[in-house]
Amino acid sequence: MLMAPLKSLGFMALLLLALLISPGSGIGVNWGTQATHPLPPSTVVQMLKDNGFQKVKLFDADASILKALSKSGIQVMVGIPNDMLLSLANSVQAAEDWVAQNVSSHVSANAVDIRYVAVGNEPFLETYNGSYVGLTLPALGNVQAALIKAGLASQVKVTVPLNADVYGSSTNLPSDGDFRSDIHELMLQIVKFLNDNGAPFTVNIYPYISLYNDPNFPIDFGFFDGSSSAINDGGRVYENVFDANHDTLVWALQKNGYGNLSIIVGEIGWPTDGDKNANLKYAQRFNQGFMSRVMAGKGTPMRSSPVDAYLFSLIDEDAKSIKPGNFELHWGLFYLDGQLKYPLRLGTTSSNGLVSAKDVRYLAKKWCVMSPTASVDDPQVGPSVSYACSHADCTSLGYGTSCGNLDSRGNISYAFNNYYQIFNQLDSACMFPNNLSSVTDNDPSVGDCKFRIMIQNLIAAEQGIASSLRLNVIVFVSLLIFTLP
Ligand SMILES: *[C@@H]1O[C@H](CO)[C@@H](O)[C@H](O)[C@H]1NC(C)=O
Ligand SMILES: *[C@@H]1O[C@H](CO)[C@@H](O)[C@H](O)[C@H]1NC(C)=O
Ligand SMILES: *[C@@H]1O[C@H](CO)[C@@H](O)[C@H](O)[C@H]1NC(C)=O
Ligand SMILES: *[C@@H]1O[C@H](CO)[C@@H](O)[C@H](O)[C@H]1NC(C)=O
Ligand SMILES: *[C@@H]1O[C@H](CO)[C@@H](O)[C@H](O)[C@H]1NC(C)=O
Repeated sequence: MLMAPLKSLGFMALLLLALLISPGSGIGVNWGTQATHPLPPSTVVQMLKDNGFQKVKLFDADASILKALSKSGIQVMVGIPNDMLLSLANSVQAAEDWVAQNVSSHVSANAVDIRYVAVGNEPFLETYNGSYVGLTLPALGNVQAALIKAGLASQVKVTVPLNADVYGSSTNLPSDGDFRSDIHELMLQIVKFLNDNGAPFTVNIYPYISLYNDPNFPIDFGFFDGSSSAINDGGRVYENVFDANHDTLVWALQKNGYGNLSIIVGEIGWPTDGDKNANLKYAQRFNQGFMSRVMAGKGTPMRSSPVDAYLFSLIDEDAKSIKPGNFELHWGLFYLDGQLKYPLRLGTTSSNGLVSAKDVRYLAKKWCVMSPTASVDDPQVGPSVSYACSHADCTSLGYGTSCGNLDSRGNISYAFNNYYQIFNQLDSACMFPNNLSSVTDNDPSVGDCKFRIMIQNLIAAEQGIASSLRLNVIVFVSLLIFTLP
């Protein structure tokens, strides 16, 4: 008798929740896969469901991932990497093949709810030296034509995720916003194309990068809880750089005759390690501040409707380039193993807080550390650490990072262990020259500095043992080089 009223109460709460979360709104997340040990796609899709993400943005169109998203009810943005733009720009046939293999087949055979194709990723970044400037619009046109031919154009829209440096404001006032002068004409053509095809403008906005690039950036202006550096733009008050940046785009669109074009924020987030301003506290403050606005249905001063956004990102990626900075490996809401980094409420589930991945399979509970009998003055220490760090992830060892307070022995152990874990705890991966290293069962973690145990590489395992044998040989040969006099 007690069960019935409790059950119906739960049902009513669910109903209320369903009413509060209107269709089409909600929050998305980016799912990148540049990791040495990616979680199995089915585990990740379960994580997305458990956490109530309604939308996911991919950087390619991996068939195993799309298969896992089949019938999940999650809306998908698939991506075309920049290195495919050349062939897609030059060949309608290539675009038709891409759409047939990477969109049509999944939509029809697997019931994957593909809504967008992202053509390129930040192709106009200044670091690309203009390589993709001439290719993006033709590729966009060919992919759109292919979608039309496939009969998918009303359901699947094209877009181009752009870096926020494609526009700016000479005065820093949003109302002076316009597109970057070197690509102004091109941006207008792209905007017209998107508008004509009912497609959205996608932009990635990173307040963290503003702070990283400018030590004098007023830190409170990066977050959503008020700032003494507020900007007054003709009566519109900007208390955070996200709103100011977003509305600079709105003004740029409006000024050029496309004030109603819909905007997707393709990436927004804050990293948790690898730099003094990349930490759990700031990441939580930023993401919770952003999500609280989304939950409240609040937009920006120029666009009052809630922002359509994809958090960056779901899980850390330890195989990315650290050229942009050491923080680059730490954007995840979750660590590599799918464990939650800090509490975050998205307002999408009844539990109202993010939950970690389930049924994760780890390697054994053992670590590679500097041998207690080895000396930090051993001449092999320097080369061994450099070697380990050139293959492994040592981005948590710098000033102000999670392991920035380790002593020299701790530092060396951290590098050895990360290398050992990345190489799946192979015996040969903990055999640094001069007996510098040894394996231990005692977790060397101290405070926030975690010596992680890697997850089992199920994906590599599925692809056969050939690659791990290859790794074994590489490790062995490299270590041999070190031991030579
Ligand atoms: C489909 O996408 C995958 C992953 O992005 C890519 O490797 C493949 O070449 C694409 N297929 C075609 C026909 O372009
Ligand atoms: C861009 O140019 C710089 C300097 O000329 C060069 O070092 C870099 O490799 C180039 N990048 C690309 C993506 O072509
Ligand atoms: C934008 O939308 C509003 C309201 O729907 C409409 O009145 C206006 O004409 C539109 N402007 C443009 C430039 O399409
Ligand atoms: C530990 O390693 C980091 C990164 O290599 C370095 O900046 C730091 O000075 C090292 N600390 C000690 C005590 O060796
Ligand atoms: C390493 O340790 C082994 C066994 O403890 C010992 O036989 C060997 O001589 C040591 N090698 C070096 C280079 O110290």
